[in-house]
Amino acid sequence: MKILNNIPLLQSYLQQQSAKRALVPTMGNLHSGHLSLVEAAKQQADEVVVSIFVNPLQFGPNEDFGCYPRTFEADCAALSEAGVDAVFAPDTHSLYPQGQERATRVDVPELGDILCGTIRPGHFVGVTSVVLRLLNLVRPDIALFGKKDYQQWLILRQMVQDLFLPIDIIGLPIIRDNDGLAKSSRNQYLSKQQRDIAPYLYQVLQKTAQQLQSEGSNYQALEQAASTELAQQGFVVDYFDIRRAEDLLRPDKVESPAALIILVAAKLGNTRLIDNYQGSSSNKVRL
Ligand code: PAF
Repeated sequence: MKILNNIPLLQSYLQQQSAKRALVPTMGNLHSGHLSLVEAAKQQADEVVVSIFVNPLQFGPNEDFGCYPRTFEADCAALSEAGVDAVFAPDTHSLYPQGQERATRVDVPELGDILCGTIRPGHFVGVTSVVLRLLNLVRPDIALFGKKDYQQWLILRQMVQDLFLPIDIIGLPIIRDNDGLAKSSRNQYLSKQQRDIAPYLYQVLQKTAQQLQSEGSNYQALEQAASTELAQQGFVVDYFDIRRAEDLLRPDKVESPAALIILVAAKLGNTRLIDNYQGSSSNKVRL
């Protein structure tokens, strides 16, 4: 596995031709969720590049950029074991040579301004601005993302479509711990007590999905009940929303549960967790 820690090294590596190249963009600190993206990438392409870059542009001033876990050696060992062809791990100056303040940004309005975009202003502009750079540098045919960040996936799809980039933005299912907690690098910030509470997030999502199937369409009442239940468990809820899966707008009429997605963002102490549940008959609801 090649480790390419600057743009000239990447460019000389890319001179070798591949029929179909996949990019898996990450911020490192890899877990089985990331490795499932790598696995899918290997199945769908004949060359897999993983990028590792903790992108300062997508963190707010009071967020966890400084303490975001950086585990480069262990990440490279896992990626080499997984059969990745190359890791692209640029430094901040390579991606933002004019400095972060002067860096060109790309914005996907509306879709980027709701849900997590409201709570974390500037976050998605940071994400799209770095992913566009990575796509332009690596020039993949496909790029793979986890659907835990469902809104991010939709925004990136929109960006690629709007900018006529010939790249498939593929979203893959959420990988969970045995107790249902969605895999996230941020889970390690949780204390033992918070970790015990964290799986409620998925349980309440499942319960709401089941109510959507059986009780129908009083979306606001379901959202309110779920938020109250989470607050009772000790979460501070940023949002618990039932939205249309295709565009994340609020349903303005009764929709089939299969057309909906339930999204949640909530804090336990200083740790912000996100999760979602897409209402489709193929998703088994177990309580
Ligand atoms: O999902 C992530 O880890 C990041 O937002 C991404 C897509 C790698 C961009 O920094």
